[in-house]
Amino acid sequence: MTVTIAGELPSREEVLALYAAVGWGAYTDDADRLMASLRGSYAVFTARDDAGGLVGLARTISDGHTIVYLQDILVHPDAQRSGVGGALLDRVISDAAGIRQLVLLTDAEGGQRAFYESRGFVEVHEVKPAPLRSFVRLG
Ligand SMILES: CC(C)(COP(=O)(O)OP(=O)(O)OC[C@H]1O[C@@H](n2cnc3c(N)ncnc32)[C@H](O)[C@@H]1OP(=O)(O)O)[C@@H](O)C(=O)NCCC(=O)NCCS
Repeated sequence: MTVTIAGELPSREEVLALYAAVGWGAYTDDADRLMASLRGSYAVFTARDDAGGLVGLARTISDGHTIVYLQDILVHPDAQRSGVGGALLDRVISDAAGIRQLVLLTDAEGGQRAFYESRGFVEVHEVKPAPLRSFVRLG
């Protein structure tokens, strides 16, 4: 599949269908908040197939200078393992060029670890020469 990566805000219907396809009900249960979170993001990147269908999305939060936080990256299950997520992540990385910290939180699941490691990400406790810690306070 050939995919086109672009910076754009997709339609509400496209967003809801994609987030529902990966089972992210915590987002789709409040569609207004989901769309507001996309509008409030630093960057939203889409992946579209040859027919223009939305097959993936990534969005970041950033000050544009010192830190980029990758909040969501998702690929429709029918399009996974065909390079779409990697192409989106490459775009996020190139968009963050010159910015020291590109960080994210994700589930402790092997496939996701392999996905991020494929693009050079390291779990914080494994950073060399000195390991780092990350903290989170979930509401
Ligand atoms: C994680 C996710 C975005 C990966 O997208 P993808 O399009 O399947 O990824 P790619 O095909 O570009 O994979 C790139 C590389 O990542 C690694 N990888 C990706 N998924 C993997 C898996 N399930 N198991 C092992 N390695 C994996 C591989 O090294 C892969 O290269 P390869 O296909 O040549 O082996 C996708 O599985 C997804 O949307 N999952 C549901 C939502 C999610 O969990 N998002 C991440 C948390 S925010």
